[in-house]
Amino acid sequence: MLQLSSLSDIRQHCEQVRCQGLRIGFVPTMGALHEGHLSLLRAAKAQNDVVVCSVFVNPTQFNNAEDYNLYPRLIVEDAEMLAQVGCDVLFAPNAAEMYAQAARLTFDFGILERVMEGAHRPGHFNGVATVVSKLFHLVRPHQAFFGQKDLQQFAIVQQLVQDLSFDLELVCFPIIREEDGLAMSSRNRRLTPEQRQVAPKLYEALQLLSEQAKHVPIEEAKAAAVTFLTQFPELRLEYLEVVDAATLQPIAHVQEVPRAAVCLAAFLGEVRLIDNVLLGQ
Ligand code: PAJ
Repeated sequence: MLQLSSLSDIRQHCEQVRCQGLRIGFVPTMGALHEGHLSLLRAAKAQNDVVVCSVFVNPTQFNNAEDYNLYPRLIVEDAEMLAQVGCDVLFAPNAAEMYAQAARLTFDFGILERVMEGAHRPGHFNGVATVVSKLFHLVRPHQAFFGQKDLQQFAIVQQLVQDLSFDLELVCFPIIREEDGLAMSSRNRRLTPEQRQVAPKLYEALQLLSEQAKHVPIEEAKAAAVTFLTQFPELRLEYLEVVDAATLQPIAHVQEVPRAAVCLAAFLGEVRLIDNVLLGQ
């Protein structure tokens, strides 16, 4: 596996690959890789000739300095895992070069970012859109792979690709979970053993809400899920929303839309976790 860190190297290498008529599959990540990331890499490998994975803890998408500082950085382990799944190129730039000049352009995704992650993490999606645009320009992939784990991020990136006419196909893959239902996340490493035991309750709450929402109005189903979660004082719920999976706007009845999603964010200590389920799945 080739490891590159400079912007000119990755640009040049990907240009050469494209000139050979080969298809590039791209998986952008922030590292501390787990099975969720690897599922995207395997899919990218199956559908393309060359797979590029970026590992970059992007400072501009963190609205909390401590979260950025404590974000796990495990590039040696990451490189080993990537080589094992057949990744061809690991691109791990440094922030000084990525942001040699601070980005001045800002993005506004309108109602898409006025809810959930966008509402609770000011500037987050601006940072995501900035770095994803830069990475797409550097790699110029044929396909880019993202996880449903970050449902709102996928919607934002879809809008970005459409509005800026990026010439690539976006692919979204399902959430990979631990055996007890906890959605895999790089942040799970920061949980204490006690917090780790409570964390799967978030998925249980999502399942409870999804089941109830088939029969009762969403407000009622939400109240039942919130009551369930209050049994676990270690958990601090930030939001719990039932939304139209396409527009991400809250809905009152699941029957209103073709596909609904239940999404939440919660803190366990200082660790912020997100999860979601699509209704009817
Ligand atoms: P990161 O959190 O490392 O996630 C990289 C990709 O892996 C995202 O598309 C995310 O949705 C997906 N992913 C994470 N956990 C998953 C799971 N349990 N199952 C399936 N897929 C999962 O998302 C980012 O990085 C950044 O915002 C990034 C897009 C790289 C921009 O900096």
